Amino acid sequence: MTQSTNPQSHPEGWIPLDRLSPAGSTLEAATDFYGTIKKRRTVRSFSDKPIPKEVIEQVLLAAGTAPSGAHKQPWRFVAVSNRDIKHKIRMAVEEVEREFYKDKASNRWLEDLEPFETNPDKSYIDTVPWLIIVMALRNTDDGGQVYYLNESVGIATGMLLTAAHEAGLVTLTHTPSPMKFLRDILGRSENERPYMMIPLGYPSDDCHVPDLSRKPLDEISVFIE
Ligand SMILES: Cc1cc2nc3c(=O)[nH]c(=O)nc-3n(C[C@H](O)[C@H](O)[C@H](O)COP(=O)(O)O)c2cc1C
Repeated sequence: MTQSTNPQSHPEGWIPLDRLSPAGSTLEAATDFYGTIKKRRTVRSFSDKPIPKEVIEQVLLAAGTAPSGAHKQPWRFVAVSNRDIKHKIRMAVEEVEREFYKDKASNRWLEDLEPFETNPDKSYIDTVPWLIIVMALRNTDDGGQVYYLNESVGIATGMLLTAAHEAGLVTLTHTPSPMKFLRDILGRSENERPYMMIPLGYPSDDCHVPDLSRKPLDEISVFIE
């Protein structure tokens, strides 16, 4: 038998939960979503087909619904479609990446990257219609404390990727290191720490991705019943 608490009174200002009620069973809904999300892939070859700003706005609104420590919402999404700024970013990223492949990355790391055939060439930054730079806010905009910053921004970023995928778009989670140059190019304040760079667009016509397998359920989970 299931149990639920049913308090007689609620704190002032609270509202009834507006939850999703799937048309089919819970199992059908969960299975359908898995069918959708398992098709998400990291793409490194983009089309230049434009995407209206309104689409990006919806994707960012979805990301902004993420949970966050004490609801501080410590994120800002900088969406760039300006060609000149994208090109500036490409040039700076490629410099950082050249360093990475030449000096910074360990041999083990380079070996682990081999299946993805990544290299310092990031020409897709010029091609892709949108670059989303996810910023982690060190403090709230009015100087207040934030909590669980990395966890909160990580969840919001995951939701951004999911929302883009659901809209039929593709993304790349790109983490040039260091990323500080992004703040300078974008003219953002010291309070914003570049967290991840997400090229977002349509895949190129003949887009191929590495044939990766994902861990089976019994490796990623433990049930204690
Ligand atoms: C935190 C993080 C950082 C990543 N950084 C890069 C990156 O800098 N460049 C890149 O090409 N891919 C990057 N990736 C993409 C991964 O290589 C990719 O997610 C992984 O190979 C699994 O492939 P899939 O996303 O298609 O399932 C990153 C992914 C994550 C989660």
